[in-house]
Amino acid sequence: MKAKVVPRVKIISMGNTEVGKSCIIKRYCEKRFVNKYLATIGIDYGVTRVTVKDRDVKVNIFDMAGHPIFYEVRNEFYRDTQGAVIVYDVSERSSFESLEEWVNEMKSEIGNQSDLENVVVCVCANKIDKKRAVDEVEGRLWASGHGFHYFETSAQTGEGVNELFKTLLEGVISTVENGGKKIPVVTQLGYSKDQIEAIQRLKNSKSDYERLGLSVGASKDDVNKAYRKLAVLLHPDKSVAPGSEEAFKLLVAARTTLLKRC
Ligand code: GTP
Ligand code: MG
Repeated sequence: MKAKVVPRVKIISMGNTEVGKSCIIKRYCEKRFVNKYLATIGIDYGVTRVTVKDRDVKVNIFDMAGHPIFYEVRNEFYRDTQGAVIVYDVSERSSFESLEEWVNEMKSEIGNQSDLENVVVCVCANKIDKKRAVDEVEGRLWASGHGFHYFETSAQTGEGVNELFKTLLEGVISTVENGGKKIPVVTQLGYSKDQIEAIQRLKNSKSDYERLGLSVGASKDDVNKAYRKLAVLLHPDKSVAPGSEEAFKLLVAARTTLLKRC
């Protein structure tokens, strides 16, 4: 039986320079990896044909340059986008912190609220073969907070890349089949932003006061209050947030040390 045809689909890539946008696309389309960095100048355009949901799909990929100087070139390519891959490098925290700016750029360039809501977006946490500066839970939380899909990838090893494009393209085709209306992403993380922030703070703080969110010299009462609040949030019997158990131990230890000082 002949596959049903969807004439063409438009996909864009976004994210800071050097995060691996071009390499992810190359890995997907050509099944290879290039180690040497070749900055994209403005926009790279490519076409690939794939079968998605039993349809023969022509995918137009607009691979954007991440460097700010190319804003004037890439800004006109956001319009009519149906799918977007927003990439950061897990070994470069600043690239994760820039994600919001990329979403804002897309918002202001697409303009029309309904067009924007119907773009299928996959967040791509790339370079997982390297030492991480951003945990998986942070990435997942950010993506789910925006209603985006989340994938961990390495363009170098190929891990996660096909899965990412499969979800992206199936999402776009489902949107087309649904009359242009996106089917919302269902994420059931089972934990909250507050829990993740508390875990991060307990793990990364330099002092016990900081761990409990207190200033130096806080009273016994303040210590106990802060402890109880965090204990409710992170008790390992209740919290399924990754890292709860370790954070809970740090919390108990911090409280013990601080109470001795009060
Ligand atoms: P711009 O075009 O400047 O916006 O950058 P880009 O996001 O397209 O980055 P590009 O794909 O050109 O990759 C940048 C550098 O990161 C290159 O040296 C790649 O070899 C390297 N790189 C890309 N993906 C990975 C990966 O998954 N793992 C590792 N270790 N290196 C990667
Ligand atoms: Mg590039």
